[in-house]
Amino acid sequence: MSSPAVAQRLAPFGTSIFAEMTRLAQAHQAINLAQGFPDFDGPDFIKRAAIRAIEAGHAQYARSFGVPALNTAIARFYERDAGLMFDPDTEITVTCGCTEAIAAAMLGLLNPGDEVVLFEPFYDSYPACIAMAGALPRFVRLHPRDGAFAFDEANLRAAFTARTRAVLVNTPHNPTGKVFSERELTLIADLALRHDAFVISDEVYEHLVYELEQPHLRLAALPGMRDRTLTLSSLGKTFSLTGWKVGWALGAPALTRAVRAAHQFLTFAGATPLQHAAAEALEHAEDAIPDLVAQFRERRDFLGDVLTSLRFNVFTPAGTYFILADFSRLSAESDVAFCQRLTREVGVAAIPPSAFYHNASGGHSLVRFAFCKQRATLEAAARRLQALRGA
Ligand SMILES: Cc1ncc(COP(=O)(O)O)c(C=O)c1O
Repeated sequence: MSSPAVAQRLAPFGTSIFAEMTRLAQAHQAINLAQGFPDFDGPDFIKRAAIRAIEAGHAQYARSFGVPALNTAIARFYERDAGLMFDPDTEITVTCGCTEAIAAAMLGLLNPGDEVVLFEPFYDSYPACIAMAGALPRFVRLHPRDGAFAFDEANLRAAFTARTRAVLVNTPHNPTGKVFSERELTLIADLALRHDAFVISDEVYEHLVYELEQPHLRLAALPGMRDRTLTLSSLGKTFSLTGWKVGWALGAPALTRAVRAAHQFLTFAGATPLQHAAAEALEHAEDAIPDLVAQFRERRDFLGDVLTSLRFNVFTPAGTYFILADFSRLSAESDVAFCQRLTREVGVAAIPPSAFYHNASGGHSLVRFAFCKQRATLEAAARRLQALRGA
């Protein structure tokens, strides 16, 4: 065959950085603080619910938009947690993780040539899904400012054009750990209203927030935004069950119809027994979440202190389970070279964040560490990282 096999739309995106760094970590027996998956199990009561669902014979295709028990549990949970009411039948779609919800939202909502405003650094599936939909990204950069990340209002305003169809927000934000403030979300909402754009709000880390004064706020809850916002999330991050791939999209019926138009042909439905177990998880979420969050906060502080003592400039995350740190006091290498050396020579894998920018100049002296690991794993990583002392 003369032409390359990968379609032109996808060729620029290569292999996901997560897969690449995990492969390198395995090859060098490095401790994997690269990919954001916990190295411990989710809560026992959820695992037992899955076993019961399998034994009860929930083995065939689920209803395409979710087993009724899960749609109802999601609706009840958002009502309790956020005071938001969603109809389980017409406004909630269960997907294969938030990743599929992102793809279904883009493919279902966007026409070729439409523009999507999004912030960079970004979760790496966003530009790929925008490209798969034939749409175009308009990037707004988050800059380090006073130990955190912020965007320039003028840049955000300038990113909106007559072709803007949607704005994509991720709060709490991977990889910076930023939790968008009320002022920032209100500005985004105003611009979406003014340009008649939809908002796609990826809130997959919605419960992993650590600072009382920086709570997670929902775009769908802002005045005028409920019916133009698609809220996306999943079970994986909150309950340390990333491999279950149970996610969802919440939105007004018109938006939900768009998501389902794509979802029915992407995966048709997610795994039936895991959806039943997810319903139980959400019915008892309030019992489980505070403990999980307290453990993550403690691990964030531990790893943050270790990195600071090694002269990394740490951006303490207000949410998510990632720490972004600047390593320019330790090395003048590119982020890719630094992360490869860290994996090969120090034995700790991390993510080079340039993969989250649309051109490689972004994120060049930054490194992202995941702290969703057992305390013993983080302590072992801390011992290995001491090799950087004096660098
Ligand atoms: C911002 C963001 N959105 C979505 C996802 C994917 O979620 P899921 O594992 O539920 O597909 C991730 C996973 O890392 C993420 O960081």
